[in-house]
Amino acid sequence: MGTLNVAILGSAAGGGVPQWNCRCPVCSLYWAGDGRVSARTQSSIALSADGERWLLINASPDLRQQILNNPVLQPRNGSRDSPIAAVALTNADVDHIAGLLVLRERQAFTVYATAKNHQILADNSIFNVLAADIVERSTMVMDEMFDTGLGLHIRPFTVPGKVALFMEQGNDVRIGDVSETTIGIEISAHGKRLVYIPGCAEISEKVRQIASGADLLLYDGTTFTDDEMPQLGLSQKTARRMGHTPITGSGGSLNAFDGLSIRQRAYIHINNTNPILIEGSDEHETIVAAGWTVTHDGMMFLL
Ligand code: MLT
Ligand code: MN
Ligand code: ZN
Repeated sequence: MGTLNVAILGSAAGGGVPQWNCRCPVCSLYWAGDGRVSARTQSSIALSADGERWLLINASPDLRQQILNNPVLQPRNGSRDSPIAAVALTNADVDHIAGLLVLRERQAFTVYATAKNHQILADNSIFNVLAADIVERSTMVMDEMFDTGLGLHIRPFTVPGKVALFMEQGNDVRIGDVSETTIGIEISAHGKRLVYIPGCAEISEKVRQIASGADLLLYDGTTFTDDEMPQLGLSQKTARRMGHTPITGSGGSLNAFDGLSIRQRAYIHINNTNPILIEGSDEHETIVAAGWTVTHDGMMFLL
């Protein structure tokens, strides 16, 4: 029986930890050299059913650094080679698509995305650096499981979300819209199942149903409280306004999956303001007591 390998390439939300221009309490600890906060790159995971060919979920702006940090993603044979066979996108935010530009040196791979998110790539001509003759753009049909040919089966599903930040027009943004802008992805191999949801505006009954029975749930851990950014005076936007469920408070993720059989659950896409990033903090203890783990870069789950 084989193993579904899940490598956490990046565990942070947009901006990473620390964020280049940020002096929030968490980033300040890092800048001061406090060992309780570890640096994290922007969220992306790599999956493999055979340990040889890897599927990325999302391509972060830090992808080059992530390849340097993860030998399994480095070229092995001949003069041009990559173990990265495909990239699946959950939305079109900068932290999830900018890394496609890192993969531009005439290497064949497949990009899986919804029709809507493929349109965003098509409308931004910078992505034409991905040579059309060898980089296949494949459209995912929601709720339909398909075979990637890598020993990994994928089933994409819509979650409540919002359009990418750079696509927002003024303040008239529909939050919690269930459309193909924001999706979760279920991946199975060797009878094991991972549910990956790095951005989700609301934990609907459908989200709970899909998470139920998972061997591993990796879920949106952007902020601890809904008003974390406004409270810190960093932004007027709540987690919900950014299309994310806070961990605590009404509708928070901390207890939203309780009662379901989920073997392991961990937070990913963690914003640098989130106090769970401080080892030993009350907030960190709170999520651990509730059965969650905080992912960190370089972590590997073997399912
Ligand atoms: C988000 O997850 O809210 C986005 O990544 C924001 C951004 O694009 O910076
Ligand atoms: Mn993001
Ligand atoms: Zn910060």
